[in-house]
Amino acid sequence: MEDRLVGCKLNQEELEELSLRPRRLDDYIGQTKVKENLVVFIEAAKKRNEALDHVLLYGPPGLGKTTLASIIASELGVNIRITSGPAIEKPGDLAAILTNLGNYDVLFIDEIHRLNRSVEEVLYPAMEDYALDIIIGKGPSARSIRLDLPPFTLIGATTRAGLLTSPLRDRFGVINKLDLYNDSELNLIVKRSSSILNAGIDEEASFEIAKRSRGTPRIANRILKRVRDFAQVKADGFITKEIAKTSLNALGVDKKGLDEVDRNLLMSIIDKFAGGPVGLETLAATIGEEADTIEDVYEPFLMQQGFINKTPRGRMATKLAYEHFNLRYE
Ligand code: ADE
Repeated sequence: MEDRLVGCKLNQEELEELSLRPRRLDDYIGQTKVKENLVVFIEAAKKRNEALDHVLLYGPPGLGKTTLASIIASELGVNIRITSGPAIEKPGDLAAILTNLGNYDVLFIDEIHRLNRSVEEVLYPAMEDYALDIIIGKGPSARSIRLDLPPFTLIGATTRAGLLTSPLRDRFGVINKLDLYNDSELNLIVKRSSSILNAGIDEEASFEIAKRSRGTPRIANRILKRVRDFAQVKADGFITKEIAKTSLNALGVDKKGLDEVDRNLLMSIIDKFAGGPVGLETLAATIGEEADTIEDVYEPFLMQQGFINKTPRGRMATKLAYEHFNLRYE
């Protein structure tokens, strides 16, 4: 089945990124629990000849939510339509998408927490009854007619499930949290991607990239491509640990995988706020990043690695953060 991408144009880098994405569940590395459960739900839906229940995927960016949605569609043997919350501006936009779905198709809505309320309300009967309620006319003569929709599966993705309204969240039958990947899972991903890219790499080099990719396949793949550039220009093309290390240092990624923004964030808490606590908005203004970006992109990894703590009064740098910069923790 062919994927149908709605409303997006891809550049060369994005096309390459797509080619690295696994197409079947068997090739998808990590997220074991999520995968095991999905296998059961997909098989059950197929056996009953029903649409798979609606699925919510949440977790930090770059962990493979879109990839997983495409895989679910291929495992079901149906088409997928891909769109995003902000792209659906009016109820009519969503109605057009819904009425064009085929039986059992998957509709993937990325950043589903950014749907506006009037659009979201169209989704409720669509998800619950496969129906579209259309209001005809205005004032006292207005009436509502119900259009049947084909049975379909909505897959919603968000970086934070907490931002979803509860009526929307309650309509998902399967709710899956994607976690940051561990080093050995990322190592497998880097090796798989190198082989797709025809880039020779040794075990130590792929592990070095894995360790410094902030638990995120998208970052691992991006780093791999940059390291491949260094290997091609500065050596014979083969990626060794030395090449990987030199390139990662040149890219500003340190031994723990922290990038410039991570280090700036931690050093601000330490230097400007005496280790914290400091409120999210204040911190965001200090380092010139959006508060949402800090929460979605930077904090999950920094917290998982034990560099910051979230307290009711704000963010605090931990002892580990001080030690990372060779500073004394008082
Ligand atoms: N590429 C990106 N994410 C992946 C994953 N989870 N498994 C395999 N390859 C990937």
